[in-house]
Amino acid sequence: MNDAELYQKSNTLQKRDAFECLEEYAQKIKWKKDASIIDIGCGDGSVTTGVLKNFLPRCKKVVGCDISEKMVQFANRKYSSHNVSFTVIDIKGDLPDQMRGEFHHAFSFYTLHWIKQQEIAFTNIYNLLDDGGDCLLIFLGHMPLFDVYRILARTNRWSYWLKDVDKFVSPYHDCQDPEKEIRRMMCKIGFVNVEVQYKPKSFVYDSLEAVKKAVKAVNPFKIPEELHEEFLEDYIGIVRDMQLIDKVNNNFENSISIRANYNLIVAYGKK
Ligand SMILES: C[S@@+](CC[C@H](N)C(=O)[O-])C[C@H]1O[C@@H](n2cnc3c(N)ncnc32)[C@H](O)[C@@H]1O
Repeated sequence: MNDAELYQKSNTLQKRDAFECLEEYAQKIKWKKDASIIDIGCGDGSVTTGVLKNFLPRCKKVVGCDISEKMVQFANRKYSSHNVSFTVIDIKGDLPDQMRGEFHHAFSFYTLHWIKQQEIAFTNIYNLLDDGGDCLLIFLGHMPLFDVYRILARTNRWSYWLKDVDKFVSPYHDCQDPEKEIRRMMCKIGFVNVEVQYKPKSFVYDSLEAVKKAVKAVNPFKIPEELHEEFLEDYIGIVRDMQLIDKVNNNFENSISIRANYNLIVAYGKK
């Protein structure tokens, strides 16, 4: 999950979802003039600058932050400009003092499901905001990928490498009512005008290679490089067993498509 080059080539789903959510929610945001913006878990920076930035009015500054130094270095090299920069922050850790109350609008795409300490992360987001500032946060709820991880973690072949599997499963994957749980947590922290939506989504990969690349790009397990291909083959085997692969017969060739039906959580709140 540290390989920015690989992530950049395989984040079509993440980019599409960031774009669709911003199209739906950007007009709800009461944009401040010359605002300061933060994107939490910016990764390689391509969503910050290639998607989010297109929805922003004129800004004083846009800061992307990520726990991964490698991602931040890549993003700074590729996308920094006079008002765009990237910095290392762990959103479940201690916030740098100079960042408290510094931002008018906070965003986060495909990051918060990586964090078990949800209340700490959401409190930090609240503390990053200026009074009246708001946040739009998009992260995974239920996702078949997490079931495949769990099945692989029970096999003799992969149990050693996937022993901490539940660290990497969204805290909302098994949750009965994520909207209620997140709304309650955000209100407790002090957010107002809270809106949380649990949205069913679907994405179709047009080849097994595309699935493998996407899985490899977000793989959180420390599997040695020489075992990657075998791991991805076994991953596809489980996807096949779960009957997620459709054979499409058109006039030209036999091709396949792989469906991922999942749920995205979109949370909005104001300080
Ligand atoms: C799937 S990527 C999403 C990147 C980008 N937002 C996008 O939509 O393409 C998730 C990112 O969250 C970062 N991340 C994970 N835990 C984090 C934490 N505690 N604080 C900040 N960033 C974190 C990872 O390093 C990774 O770059």
